[in-house]
Amino acid sequence: MDIFSIIKGRRSCRAFLPEPIPKETIAMILKAAVWAPSPMNAQPWEFIVITSQETKKTIFSEAETLKQDLFQKSGWKWLGRYNVDFLLSAPVIVAVVGDPDKTGADKFIEGGGIAYQHACAAAVQNMLLAAHALGLGSLWFTLFETEVMRNILGVASGKVPLAMVCLGKPSGEPLQVYRKDALEKTRFIR
Ligand SMILES: Cc1cc2nc3c(=O)[nH]c(=O)nc-3n(C[C@H](O)[C@H](O)[C@H](O)COP(=O)(O)O)c2cc1C
Repeated sequence: MDIFSIIKGRRSCRAFLPEPIPKETIAMILKAAVWAPSPMNAQPWEFIVITSQETKKTIFSEAETLKQDLFQKSGWKWLGRYNVDFLLSAPVIVAVVGDPDKTGADKFIEGGGIAYQHACAAAVQNMLLAAHALGLGSLWFTLFETEVMRNILGVASGKVPLAMVCLGKPSGEPLQVYRKDALEKTRFIR
């Protein structure tokens, strides 16, 4: 597959088969993650690989609670219907944890100090693309509270769980989504 087919063919997967993922495959996905760019090449990420059903259950039940809470607050109907069972069915979930101390010179700019998050996002995208290239489905999941996830994963207070990447063989077809044309989103200036 060429890079453009990989980029366009990747879809968020919300239903996984129970088949385990070999350690070597997880290692390949993590190797893709760390080749993401980062400010001053600070590499502000750490990864926690979760395979235990017990930990997945805890993440799932916290997501259920938060989902109900956000549904009450927002009234968004889709939140009431949103099913997070994929947190139980994904054979592997990789937590991506960012280190705010490893942000770039942006920490001296008002409103800055977040370039480490951009770098971690780039690492996540590399993981999703690598997973797709290896025939796996993936989901970038963020419906969690930072402090709750810190406690579940035993992350130090200075570091920030930013994303949970669910990985596994997809069960069924992913949701079809559309994109607006890139040129609709683009302005050329001189
Ligand atoms: C920063 C970020 C956070 C996301 N968080 C969630 C999430 O918490 N739960 C979820 O089901 N999908 C989540 N997604 C996936 C998006 O819903 C999905 O990318 C979008 O609907 C487009 O679909 P596609 O990934 O198949 O192209 C997230 C995506 C991004 C980039």
